[in-house]
Amino acid sequence: MAHSILLFGANGQVGHALQTSLARLGTVIACTREQIDFSQSSEDIAAALEVLTQQHKPTIIVNATAYTAVDRAQSEPNLAQRVNATTPGLLARAAQETGACMVHFSTDYVFKGDKLEPYVETDPTDPQSVYGQSKLDGEHAVASACARHLIFRTSWVVSAHGGNFLKTMLKLAQERDTLSVVSDQVGAPTSANLLASVTTQIVRVLAEQPDTDPRWGLYHLVAGGHTNWHAYACYVIAQARQAGWPIKIQDQAIHPIATKDYPVAAPRPLNSRLDTQKLCKAFDLTLPEWRVGVDEVLQALKSPA
Ligand SMILES: NC(=O)c1ccc[n+]([C@@H]2O[C@H](COP(=O)([O-])OP(=O)(O)OC[C@H]3O[C@@H](n4cnc5c(N)ncnc54)[C@H](OP(=O)(O)O)[C@@H]3O)[C@@H](O)[C@H]2O)c1
Repeated sequence: MAHSILLFGANGQVGHALQTSLARLGTVIACTREQIDFSQSSEDIAAALEVLTQQHKPTIIVNATAYTAVDRAQSEPNLAQRVNATTPGLLARAAQETGACMVHFSTDYVFKGDKLEPYVETDPTDPQSVYGQSKLDGEHAVASACARHLIFRTSWVVSAHGGNFLKTMLKLAQERDTLSVVSDQVGAPTSANLLASVTTQIVRVLAEQPDTDPRWGLYHLVAGGHTNWHAYACYVIAQARQAGWPIKIQDQAIHPIATKDYPVAAPRPLNSRLDTQKLCKAFDLTLPEWRVGVDEVLQALKSPA
């Protein structure tokens, strides 16, 4: 069956990658802020959704939109809540009403980050930031409005498209003599391409399955292995140097620092590791190591030298 896929957040890191991968399943209607601004009132969102669903009769609705300015969210809680929770709930309701399934993304920030092992889906949530709380509320809004839903919690997204930590490190490494990077937060950099391709594989399997299929639900989806921000920065900079980027900084001038010495508005989890066994078992997947995705992003960016 060729699907009609409404994709929201098509200009973001993950949305951009999904545009390509979801096209394997049918027609992708790529929606950005221009089609629906997620910060509008619920009435306006519902009216805009009505037009889109009437016109395109979607069989799959995918939401890659999010208010991702984690620190700014601390002072804009209402906006973060609307974009990350209220509007996703309305999309899920529209999916339920039109018979479509709903795909949504969430985050490691729903956890406090004090567990010593990787988090599993059933671990208690305890968001420490406005962003994390809004994303958790978004999970609940989607899950309660649409039975046939998939929610993928991910972490440390990286892509050649859009802004992210890898790109910031590359830029700073070409400009600065020294850098200080947090070394006590652990997680897995996960490429938007990996997220998009796994999402597409799973949606291909599930899109026509009934709501009684036990595979609908919440999953952790991150690349294999783990690192910390400092080691990640060192890896990116070393790889870039080897590939001929005009890197200014010396390796020994990239200093590890503690989270407490890098004050930011929103607290981050120290442990962002997510256990992916539920996903791998349900869909017979093996997820590549995080370096694979990072290498691909570096290759896609290419050296400006
Ligand atoms: N980035 C990460 O490290 C990370 C980590 C864990 C989980 N996640 C989750 O992964 C998913 C995808 O994240 P991402 O990294 O792809 O995010 P992103 O690159 O920041 O993209 C978010 C998209 O949302 C759109 N958006 C924001 N506010 C909007 C509004 N009011 N109305 C309409 N569109 C709006 C943005 O549009 P504009 O381009 O017009 O601004 C952008 O295209 C999100 O659910 C996020 O919470 C991300």
